[in-house]
Amino acid sequence: MSAFFSNARHAQTSIISVFNFSRKTDAYRHYHPQFIIEEQRHIAGASGDFTALLNDIVTAIKTISNAVNKGALIGVMGALDTENVQGETQKKLDVITNEIMIRHNEWAGHLSGMASEEMDDVYSIPSPNPLGKYLLVFDPLDGSSNVDLNISVGTIFSILRSPVPSRAASKEDFFQPGTKQVCAGYALYGSSTMLVLTTGHGVNGFTLDRDIGEFVLTHPNMKIPVDTREFAINASNQRFWEPPVQRYVAECQAGSTGPRGRDFNMRWVASMVAEVHRILTRGGIFMYPRDTKDLSKPGRLRLMYEANPMSFIVEQAGGLSTTGYERILDIVPQDLHQRVPVILGSKNEVEVVLGYHKK
Ligand code: F6P
Ligand code: MN
Repeated sequence: MSAFFSNARHAQTSIISVFNFSRKTDAYRHYHPQFIIEEQRHIAGASGDFTALLNDIVTAIKTISNAVNKGALIGVMGALDTENVQGETQKKLDVITNEIMIRHNEWAGHLSGMASEEMDDVYSIPSPNPLGKYLLVFDPLDGSSNVDLNISVGTIFSILRSPVPSRAASKEDFFQPGTKQVCAGYALYGSSTMLVLTTGHGVNGFTLDRDIGEFVLTHPNMKIPVDTREFAINASNQRFWEPPVQRYVAECQAGSTGPRGRDFNMRWVASMVAEVHRILTRGGIFMYPRDTKDLSKPGRLRLMYEANPMSFIVEQAGGLSTTGYERILDIVPQDLHQRVPVILGSKNEVEVVLGYHKK
């Protein structure tokens, strides 16, 4: 038999054995609703409200996954001629996904208000829907500049307790530091759709099985490796960076010939969700640091619906998240759309950058 055929047969055997293996695991799969209810049993006095809220968010995410996946087939690609409160041109999918999040979460009575990247002010729950004890903050389609390119995008969300349950939420009600988050999560619409969640007891990842419409626990107890040789930063901003970040990146680039004594690799997806997911999977450091590009903006990313939920997840997975000057989760927000510098990822590497800031 020629080498080609023997290799081809070998490849076929391995595909079949992988397939058989995954079929075996079908016999018992840990689905997302079961996982959440089991988690709820550990919380004294839990009424099931939070579980129900999370289920609504998950339904919204499945709906978004569908829209993003169908793409041009259903005419959702491209931009509108509107801008959001940040002055960014809105994509059709920014508006559609924002609407999906609202419609799935406004009716059930778990929330007293919502806030989103795509809405200037707090979204009040319309009457006659009942008001509840939680607040929901979200970025419905993070990395949406990538959406027309068929590159990964995501949804980020954060759940806070309402200071006064069942009263229509004010903007100030949302101004709680990230340490107060009850839950944070993201969905990544990549080659598969994944949901990654924390309720403050570690981080778990689920993969959407489209055939049955459920998220299956595929990545239990995700941990960020403490060391890494991979960094992510938008290098086109280099001339605006502060000295500690200049130094750190220069040393990564110098690799084995520099003070770090080892070579580094670089990645930049320009979708924070994809970036954080890579770091959760194989380690790394992600930076959108403070720079002097526009002095009115202390950073690029938004505290409440990007930096805080991702920082909660990263810390729960054993990583660190900082502005370079303070822990992100300790910042008390002063505005719904406040921006912050973000440096997050593998613990030992973030500590190197923090050390340079202290100097
Ligand atoms: O929402 C902000 C965001 O799209 C992030 O997802 C991403 O990390 C960043 O902006 C990309 O920024 P830039 O356009 O500078 O590469
Ligand atoms: Mn975003």
